[in-house]
Amino acid sequence: MTTNVLAPATQAAATGAGIACESDSIATVPLAEERAFAYWQQDIPAEYWRLAPDELTARIRAARRALRTRAIILGHHYQREDVIAFADEKGDSFKLARWAAGHPESEYIVFCGVHFMAEAADILSAPHQKVVLPNMAAGCSMSDMADPDDVYSAWAEMEEIGIAQDTLPITYINSAAALKAFVGAHGGAVCTSSNARKVLEWAFGQKKRVLFFPDQHLGRNTGYAMGVPLDQMVLWGWARPYGSMGGQTREALERSRVILWAGHCSVHQRFTPEQVADARRKHPGVIVVVHPECRLETVRAADLNGSTEFIARTVAEAPGGSTIAIGTEINLVSRLAKEHPDKTVFCLDPVVCPCSTMYRVHPAYLAWTLESLAAGRVVNQIVVPEEIARDARLALDRMLAIT
Ligand code: 13P
Ligand code: SF4
Repeated sequence: MTTNVLAPATQAAATGAGIACESDSIATVPLAEERAFAYWQQDIPAEYWRLAPDELTARIRAARRALRTRAIILGHHYQREDVIAFADEKGDSFKLARWAAGHPESEYIVFCGVHFMAEAADILSAPHQKVVLPNMAAGCSMSDMADPDDVYSAWAEMEEIGIAQDTLPITYINSAAALKAFVGAHGGAVCTSSNARKVLEWAFGQKKRVLFFPDQHLGRNTGYAMGVPLDQMVLWGWARPYGSMGGQTREALERSRVILWAGHCSVHQRFTPEQVADARRKHPGVIVVVHPECRLETVRAADLNGSTEFIARTVAEAPGGSTIAIGTEINLVSRLAKEHPDKTVFCLDPVVCPCSTMYRVHPAYLAWTLESLAAGRVVNQIVVPEEIARDARLALDRMLAIT
């Protein structure tokens, strides 16, 4: 059994491989031909390395059939086409977390997504269920920007300055389980892109100020939509040495309502207001919808913003003949374009830039994990130690109750 404890989504950051565009195509090729395979989980038996996509599909199908109802496959919207095709349930982070909390019937939850999502599923699922992440190197570079030690140290500084007692920590679900535990132990909650506003409204009912990590953009966009002035949302530069107050003055921190961690998603930072203007110029009447991990200027230039599930619903509900430009990960955009041939759906960014860590869930890993489970071997199990899971569950349960 391969057991992963707290891990490292940091594998992505450590290799630097979570940051650049690793591919100029989203079509699956055999694992060994993937340009970035060297950065991925290597201890997958060599027999899987050269299998062609159709061979992998056949093997996944057979293993899936052999497992019957013992395994359920969850797929995040950013997964590749030939992985999401096997998902029993697909959705955004919130929908999949809620699903994991409410379905104790399957023995295995195979999570086709990234590490923090599998951790959340492990925390929320029943004790007898085992959560499996097909590729352990599928982290999230944004989540890696909030290293638990950096957050503890920032909090210690806030205690010294005297602002911690008026501050509630809120973590985006894109974070390590240890940080969810920190938040849970300090009275705060987790949020996702689909409920950030409700969670912040709740938070402001508890305390004057929120420390929001790791995504500055989701925090800023949500605060802005709620009417929090921009000069009361300050950025905490976590890379600065202890004692430098994250690069802020004491006065700015004291009058702030939101302290934003200086983290971001490299996929969503690519979307710009210029791309929105370009889409409007070329496609009069276009509906522009973006993910709230995009920067504020982009979100303000767009017509709508919301989670991946919201984006999928927006496209589904738009009248036939609509033109919709989307600012989010390319696998979802290209799937929506295929699913809605009566609408023109395209990505705001002309460069094909998949989320390089979501992309690591290659069908070879799915075939290997399912065949291993069918043979009675649990590989790539995600196990959050109970001393961490206990407080992290508090923060996740608060989110579920608020939403
Ligand atoms: P959603 O919860 O909207 O699916 O977002 C998850 C994510 O990681 C987006 O980058
Ligand atoms: Fe993380 Fe960005 Fe990928 Fe989402 S799209 S999993 S935030 S790196």
